[in-house]
Amino acid sequence: MLEDLGRKFARFTTNQVVRRPRLWPLSRRLTRAQFNRIAPAWDERRSDDAFAPLAAALDSLAAEPARVLDLGTGTGRAAFLLARRYPGAEVVGADLAADMVAEAKRLTPPEVAGRVRFEVADAEKLPYADGSFDLVSLANMIPFFDELARVTAPGGAVVFSFSGGPQTPIYVPPEVLRSELEKRGFSDFAEFAAGPGTAAVARKPGEA
Ligand SMILES: C[S@@+](CC[C@H](N)C(=O)[O-])C[C@H]1O[C@@H](n2cnc3c(N)ncnc32)[C@H](O)[C@@H]1O
Repeated sequence: MLEDLGRKFARFTTNQVVRRPRLWPLSRRLTRAQFNRIAPAWDERRSDDAFAPLAAALDSLAAEPARVLDLGTGTGRAAFLLARRYPGAEVVGADLAADMVAEAKRLTPPEVAGRVRFEVADAEKLPYADGSFDLVSLANMIPFFDELARVTAPGGAVVFSFSGGPQTPIYVPPEVLRSELEKRGFSDFAEFAAGPGTAAVARKPGEA
């Protein structure tokens, strides 16, 4: 019952943030409390194939990023995948919920620990300079498009993945992702599917 309500609230908040990001402060506290509450059990729910759509989208990227941001990292699974895939990269995992960040730190595998760090941050207003990241990943995460565009470096890429495709509580349809990204100058939009999951990538044009 509580789980079902939580999923409905996550979908409602996602739709609201995409349409009216300025209303986010109304949902922030409850969203943070919801994810803090489920943080200790979150990792048990994540199967490895939850990130198959992310992996499929990453396969399409030609360049190896040096600076990677995993936004809404939760317990850090996508951040670990990114760190393993890009052995030369520094990876930051950021999340609104301090208890998720604590779990991510606790679960960090020793072989990537020197290159992955986790921080509490709100994706609406990130504590990173413009163009800080060559790759920004959002796995099952609410997108704040203006901040996303700001922290992505020219020539960098963004990747969105949804473990359960349209059934994922936090889900944004590809046509909406594409339109919001193109408004902000992104191009080369491409879609992927893996099992029930879906993903999309887009590229921020490089400097002329
Ligand atoms: C559905 S979980 C996904 C976690 C992880 N990416 C995964 O796929 O296992 C969404 C995560 O986004 C975080 N989140 C929600 N709104 C956020 C925001 N504005 N800024 C940063 N993190 C946020 C939540 O705390 C939660 O950990």
